[in-house]
Amino acid sequence: MSDNETSILCAAEIIGNSRYLCVSTGAGVSAESGVPTFRGAGGKWNTIDPEDVATYEAFSRDPEFVWSFYNDRRVNGASCRPNPAHIAIAQLEKRFGDNFTLITQNVDNLHREAGSERILEIHGNIWRVRCTCCNIEYEERTNPLPARPYCKTCGEGAWIRPAVVWFGETLDFDLLYRANKALESCDALLIVGTSGYVYPAAEFIVIAKRSGARVIEINVEETPNAGFVDAKVLGKAGEMLPRILSRITGEG
Ligand SMILES: NC(=O)c1ccc[n+]([C@@H]2O[C@H](COP(=O)([O-])OP(=O)(O)OC[C@H]3O[C@@H](n4cnc5c(N)ncnc54)[C@H](O)[C@@H]3O)[C@@H](O)[C@H]2O)c1
Ligand SMILES: [Zn+2]
Repeated sequence: MSDNETSILCAAEIIGNSRYLCVSTGAGVSAESGVPTFRGAGGKWNTIDPEDVATYEAFSRDPEFVWSFYNDRRVNGASCRPNPAHIAIAQLEKRFGDNFTLITQNVDNLHREAGSERILEIHGNIWRVRCTCCNIEYEERTNPLPARPYCKTCGEGAWIRPAVVWFGETLDFDLLYRANKALESCDALLIVGTSGYVYPAAEFIVIAKRSGARVIEINVEETPNAGFVDAKVLGKAGEMLPRILSRITGEG
């Protein structure tokens, strides 16, 4: 049996014997759906400086440029569908019911499309916008948006912005509180497709470990989490997660 096959069995054993499962996902879980990651091979930040598009300063300086970046992501995102990793995570939620929380850094909505419901989108959602004048937040599916998108209530001159968390901005306190509670309650944490460099997600593993949880990680490459992980599955999320799930359910 290969090392990875052993890790898959170990991951299935940990999840299968746990009472409360927390799943933390990053851009890697959507890579096989055609949504580019920020870091790693083919990552967006290799060609674009985040300071130019994903900060409030950049938006204040040149909102049209920032919106052209987000319009591209929305146009590309509209043709992306959930992959087998999103679907396996939604199936795990069905198994665990209320003893399940999905914490995602992704803004692409693919987990919801796959059927996930107990989900904390800590970095927001690219299909939602917020008015910079009245602060109202709403779903906006017009795609692409006009080059100068304005608030549907305030009108001309009142810029909306993507309802996502930019570099240097604070996360929603209530979401973070609920994420922490879930991490303290879980006895298994499954981390999928996240580089382990972005806070606070990088810290989730520490909170879960401190509370006695066992940790599984699925990634195509090594991450800074290595020393904390109980089962490390090396490979694509869309291939590895269905294999783990079928071990848990005893199918295949
Ligand atoms: N899909 C999205 O919504 C999306 C896309 C890009 C970036 N982001 C934002 O990027 C920020 C943080 O980045 P991050 O840490 O989530 O991701 P990241 O882009 O920093 O890293 C992605 C990770 O996924 C791994 N990976 C790539 N393909 C994979 C696959 N097929 N299976 C498993 N792992 C794979 C990479 O090795 C890397 O560790 C977040 O703020 C998030 O909001 C979101
Ligand atoms: Zn408004």
